Amino acid sequence: MKVLSLGGAGFIGSHLTERLLQKNHSVVVVDYYDDKLLELLGHPGLTMLKQDIREENWGLEKLVEDSDVVIDLIAYANPGLYVKMPLEVFDLNFTENLKIAKTCRKLKKRLVQFSTCEVYGKTPASFMNENLMNPTDPAHATFSEDNTNLILGPIGKHRWIYASAKQLLERVLHAYGLEDGFKYCIIRPFNFIGPKIDYLLNETDGIPRVFSYFMDALINGGQMKLVDGGHNLRCYTYIDDAIEAIYRIVQNPNGVCDQEIFNIGSPHNETSIKNLAMLMRDIYANDMWQEGMPDLPEIVAVSSEDFYGRGYEDSDRRIPDITKARNLLEWEPKWNMVSTLKATMNYYVHDYRLHYGLNSLRDHFKHETIVQKIS
Ligand code: UGA
Repeated sequence: MKVLSLGGAGFIGSHLTERLLQKNHSVVVVDYYDDKLLELLGHPGLTMLKQDIREENWGLEKLVEDSDVVIDLIAYANPGLYVKMPLEVFDLNFTENLKIAKTCRKLKKRLVQFSTCEVYGKTPASFMNENLMNPTDPAHATFSEDNTNLILGPIGKHRWIYASAKQLLERVLHAYGLEDGFKYCIIRPFNFIGPKIDYLLNETDGIPRVFSYFMDALINGGQMKLVDGGHNLRCYTYIDDAIEAIYRIVQNPNGVCDQEIFNIGSPHNETSIKNLAMLMRDIYANDMWQEGMPDLPEIVAVSSEDFYGRGYEDSDRRIPDITKARNLLEWEPKWNMVSTLKATMNYYVHDYRLHYGLNSLRDHFKHETIVQKIS
């Protein structure tokens, strides 16, 4: 297959590109950066186009025309950004992605659209509290693609602009499907984690997800901060499990994924953020820490307003119902929480500095920081 992968050099995209090339597909990646794909640059099956898709007339239509399937991974997907620059988040995640969807529709190309588990928002337990029978029953937080109501917070909590933008895009794709049979498939990832998830905090001006905050504190010293006590729950999904499901969706055997939405996640890897911090610190202390390294960080609580600023509100809990992925893709996630964390943390302890420090990170971020890290 000829695959056009937009945003294909990010965390998910880089792992997917590797898999597609292994399976002898040809892949055109369009991305702003290429450093997560460094080891694949030069592969005969890969064309890398460094491009900001927000520019006018950059050649999207021709690339879509030349492809068999389009994968759209372009997104700002870190909550700190939703609070800091909500309009940019909306523009990229909705306006720009809509242009891609429109082009695919016009040229009748299949689109695999990455969305988010954030579209489910909050659980009924988060606002009904004691009025709900058994508020901790996982059934209240187990979300299925085609039946669950989507519950977002008020406008003043602008974190939800991301989930709203993604939800609206999903609704437009659904409407295209109704009107002219447009072939799309929507993927809702549930907290994928693995090598290359985000840059460490000290090495980027960006705002990473929780894993990188915690990993940075372990490697470089500092505190592991639990936002509002770290009581909220997430289901973490190892990237290899995720890629297995996504690859099957790209293959789309007998068209089973057409006009479908898939939750991709590991329902058995549920953990509170507080437990995540303790697990990571234990793994680091037992397997990775050596004399001379910074002391193990303390785990502290901070308010969400202090940490993110005003406008933040959180998903309290989200468990994927993966019945559809099991039935249509014959997919089952295999990685448990501890092996997921060990594999991801090992990468950041052993490979990350070598990989990025010596290569292109220095082109993108502060040169002095990288030099200090290596020496
Ligand atoms: C984010 C995106 O919004 C989702 O679209 C995406 O699907 C998801 O990441 C993902 O990785 O798949 P979220 O889980 O809220 O969702 O992202 P994180 O920034 O990793 O936050 C997880 C939890 O940790 C939140 O409760 C946050 O408040 C907390 N947190 C974050 C801390 O307690 N300490 C920190 O240092 C950072």
